[in-house]
Amino acid sequence: MDGSSTPTAAPVLILLGPPGAGKGTQARMLEEQFGLVQLSTGDLLRAAVANGTEAGRQAKAVMEAGGLVSDEIVIAILRDRLREPDCAKGVILDGFPRTTVQAEALDTLLAESGARINAAISLDVEDAAMVARIAGRYTCAGCGEGWHDLFKQPKTAGTCDSCGGTEFKRRADDNAETVASRLEAYHAQTAPLIDYYAKAGALSRIDAMGDIETIARDLQAIVKTATA
Ligand code: AP5
Repeated sequence: MDGSSTPTAAPVLILLGPPGAGKGTQARMLEEQFGLVQLSTGDLLRAAVANGTEAGRQAKAVMEAGGLVSDEIVIAILRDRLREPDCAKGVILDGFPRTTVQAEALDTLLAESGARINAAISLDVEDAAMVARIAGRYTCAGCGEGWHDLFKQPKTAGTCDSCGGTEFKRRADDNAETVASRLEAYHAQTAPLIDYYAKAGALSRIDAMGDIETIARDLQAIVKTATA
């Protein structure tokens, strides 16, 4: 997605949805199916926190409280990541944009390189189901594959299907109080983007209350059309 790539050939997909909607789960599947790069601002911020960067230090407390990190920090992190060579394959944005300021900044960034948004896909879910999805979530410490105590279990308990790893971790912000704040932030600041992308003619919506495979099939159909 840098100036030297052929940006019009590189798809840009956005996954919108509240915490626990399945953005990360589905983005990883699309990444494999379509040869795209998943860009999760949550993952980029968690890496910044773990590495003790200035941005990470500023983001840590906000993330732990379930609020949104400042637009300035998130846009800078995303802009730097988009300039890395692998993004020339095309990207799936997972968790970005989350505010109108971020959406406008993305439009500017893409316009600078002649790229465009192929589709902004909203994963529509009910808030009540999100607490159970988040409370049961854990990931492989080796490869990052996401799992769930009830809804997505490895074939052999305690061993990751993807890499054979046996170490798993849970996120510090996956607790009931933080989930409530994250849902509140979603409805106040991110849900208006559904209208933003509808007006731009880029919006698709999916009922994301069903099982992971059905949602994946629906998404795949949308992405095929949007990137044809
Ligand atoms: P982030 O990491 O983006 O978290 P989030 O948006 O809260 O989303 P999650 O990762 O919790 O959920 P998901 O939709 O990816 O669901 P998943 O696939 O894991 O952000 C964390 C924090 O960073 C934010 O709170 C904020 O502070 C900050 N931040 C990040 N981006 C920012 C930005 N742009 N601006 C400002 N601040 C930002 O699925 C959840 C679980 O459910 C999994 O266990 C999965 O196996 C299971 N599951 C998935 N689909 C289904 C299904 N259909 N049925 C049953 N179970 C399912």
